[in-house]
Amino acid sequence: MRYILGNFKANKTRTEMHTWVDEFKKMYVPDPNVTVGLFPQLSHLDYLLESLTSLQNVFVGSQTVSSYAHGSYTGEVTAQSLSGIVSYTIIGHSERRKLFGETDQMLFDKVTHAKQYNIEPIYCVRNDQDPIPSGVRFIAYEPVAAIGTGKNEPPEETIAMKQKIKLPAGAIFIYGGSVNAENAPAYFKTGEIDGFLIGKVTLDPAQFIAVVNAAKK
Ligand code: PGA
Repeated sequence: MRYILGNFKANKTRTEMHTWVDEFKKMYVPDPNVTVGLFPQLSHLDYLLESLTSLQNVFVGSQTVSSYAHGSYTGEVTAQSLSGIVSYTIIGHSERRKLFGETDQMLFDKVTHAKQYNIEPIYCVRNDQDPIPSGVRFIAYEPVAAIGTGKNEPPEETIAMKQKIKLPAGAIFIYGGSVNAENAPAYFKTGEIDGFLIGKVTLDPAQFIAVVNAAKK
């Protein structure tokens, strides 16, 4: 199975999401070997769930979860509250680490809570120095220099880093950083990459679908 994961980050109004969904639905053709994951802002989660869950091989997940279980933590969104709503969450995106001060300990706590509520973490690492908590299956390797810069990391460098990262047995290895339909096939050709975590290209449904189609064998 290949995974094409689209991270909207903090983008799009509700009206813009309507347009995105309409266009995506028109263009999306499911494939038994490709799973599409979409990670909208939490404010659009219900809307995307309602409009996309009837589509085959599409899931909707959260961009993060709280490192707290529940309680007096204004503004936090807990794994407990997402339980039964999403089955996947991104944890440890480098933007959360850098801009919101999320530490390894906080990220480990997030993983614990997510797993407690059967939410599968998609755990982001920047390189082989970021520790990976136990029980994580999806590893998204995202070199910071490649994120949002238009300079994707050459696949051979990604494979070299994959060999250095202490991956859990049976890991699903995802690459992220300036992925688009043009550079995607070279990663798949290596046979070492199970999918992509995509930022900018997600925002344009046609470009995103082009990557989904590139993942079809
Ligand atoms: P990008 O973002 O595709 O815009 O480089 C990737 C990411 O941050 O996951």
